[in-house]
Amino acid sequence: FRFLRWSWRVTYLSAIAGTLWFSYGVYQARNPNEQMEPDPKKKTLVVLGTGWGSVSLLKKLDTENYNVIVVSPRNYFLFTPLLPSCTTGLIEHRSIMEPVRNFLRHKKAVVKFYEAECTKIDADKKVVYITDESEIKGTVNTTEVPFDMLVVGVGAENATFGIPGVREHGLFLKEVGDAQAIRKRIMDCCETATFKDQDPDEVKRLLHMVVVGGGPTGVEFAGELQDFFEGDLKKWIPDIKTNFHVTLVEALPNVLPMFSKQLIDYTERTFKEETITIRTKTMVKRVTEKFIEAESTGPDGKKVVEQIPYGLLVWATGNALRPVVKDLMMSIPAQKDSRRGLAVNEYLVVKGTENIWAVGDCAVANYAPTAQVAAQEGAFLARLFNQMAKTEEIETELKSLSDQQEKAANGGPRDAIFSEIKELQKRLRRVKQMGPFEYSHQGSLAYIGSEKAVADVSWLTGNIASGGTLTYFFWRSAYLSMVFSTRNKVLVITDWIKAKMFGRDTSRE
Ligand code: FAD
Ligand code: NAI
Repeated sequence: FRFLRWSWRVTYLSAIAGTLWFSYGVYQARNPNEQMEPDPKKKTLVVLGTGWGSVSLLKKLDTENYNVIVVSPRNYFLFTPLLPSCTTGLIEHRSIMEPVRNFLRHKKAVVKFYEAECTKIDADKKVVYITDESEIKGTVNTTEVPFDMLVVGVGAENATFGIPGVREHGLFLKEVGDAQAIRKRIMDCCETATFKDQDPDEVKRLLHMVVVGGGPTGVEFAGELQDFFEGDLKKWIPDIKTNFHVTLVEALPNVLPMFSKQLIDYTERTFKEETITIRTKTMVKRVTEKFIEAESTGPDGKKVVEQIPYGLLVWATGNALRPVVKDLMMSIPAQKDSRRGLAVNEYLVVKGTENIWAVGDCAVANYAPTAQVAAQEGAFLARLFNQMAKTEEIETELKSLSDQQEKAANGGPRDAIFSEIKELQKRLRRVKQMGPFEYSHQGSLAYIGSEKAVADVSWLTGNIASGGTLTYFFWRSAYLSMVFSTRNKVLVITDWIKAKMFGRDTSRE
């Protein structure tokens, strides 16, 4: 009994301590301290974008060393890995958005944020031109921002390969607005298909959900959509049960080319069980309002062109360069052979420049365009810039000590300065020892529907490939741990619980 009483007391005290600690964290998050004001003597560091690369840099950067300015048309960070879940309402989009001001306000020194798009980078003049593209515009909506150092982290836009009709009729899946548009379109198709006296062929077309691109974006979205149908849509709108169908179209011979063969097969088998049709070796050539035109290669090698009617078309065929990046590449002769993005050296410096760095999807450093790479590149730059500032500080101190040493009398004072110089030189050597960027691949993960996921995870010196429900729990916990803030974590968990208890919301808006 005594033992029980004590264990109760310990549990009780731990609960109180945990609550106090959590409350203090929340209090601190909501009450930021005063920040250091910008100092004209310091260098101006301009960061473009608020995505994975830029935010990872800003999180780890000692802002007191620079006057930092952030320019982005998005005043929030978006946790893209959970974006496919927003298309069906499993997760509400605001749960995976974090306002950048929330964490910038916690930095030691003030970080200026301008919600604007960078329209041009002048590497010679060291200026970026920015425009406010938001709905509300002031009398000034375009201006220029000079920089000493610039980080380009503007990501990429959706690739369409110039295929006619894609931009007009297809929906993408990159931004919050895209996920909202898809969610709305799914419900619109379902409601229109059940309109009184609707033509049977039209019903079939409206309920045909076509996804083009068998990369992870297309696969994850197809899985989420089929889940939505199985879990909610067919229950609440039984009329659509027989005609609702998801088709994934891929030009290559298989989906998820970056995963191991075993996981590709597992994904294709799972899709079959989920009744998702996979059309591989099928290249979409044209898109109209009601059908796509695709060329497929049959087993005999013959090419067949067919028209596939659709109600919803989601286009997920990878990345293309943003105009501002293309323009910068054209202005730098050393970039003339680069096609997929800004060529950077091993310290992520844009080749042909001295004070411009690039991170994430807009940079070409021989890694896949993923959040994992962008985040590691951003963190690397933060370390590099912190180190550069320390180096400069030590070098200034050394110079002043050398001047003092020259003026000092021989003997005691001179010797003291000499040993101080020695100590500083040692520190300088230590600080300067920073190797180039090295990417450490933690693995690839993708959700494939019906509470299953696939994972190729690096483990010690090898690789583990796994797929199934256990992997799905791993996928969920891995992404939950990576979600930006405690606030986001709480919101995502709440969304998951809400969907489990009450189902997804099928209202259109
Ligand atoms: P982004 O994160 O795209 O950020 C670019 C930023 O630049 C944005 O803030 C944008 O508003 C801003 N910007 C754009 N134009 C301008 C301009 N002209 N001036 C200033 N700012 C500008 N990767 C993974 O590793 N794992 C995953 O599970 C995963 N899931 C994904 C799911 C989806 C649906 C998608 C679309 C991508 C996913 N990715 C995933 C890929 C990952 O999101 C990208 O590789 C990553 O976002 C790249 O980071 P970034 O910083 O380069 O660009
Ligand atoms: P992707 O580039 O990975 O895949 C696009 C696919 O579309 C390719 O397989 C291509 O063959 C196909 N395609 C291109 N044109 C076509 C056409 N006309 N008709 C039919 N198919 C066509 O693009 P995705 O999936 O958008 O991913 C972009 C980046 O983001 C990748 O680097 C990916 O690794 C990363 N990402 C990672 C995720 C994860 O790790 N879970 C999730 C989503 C994206």
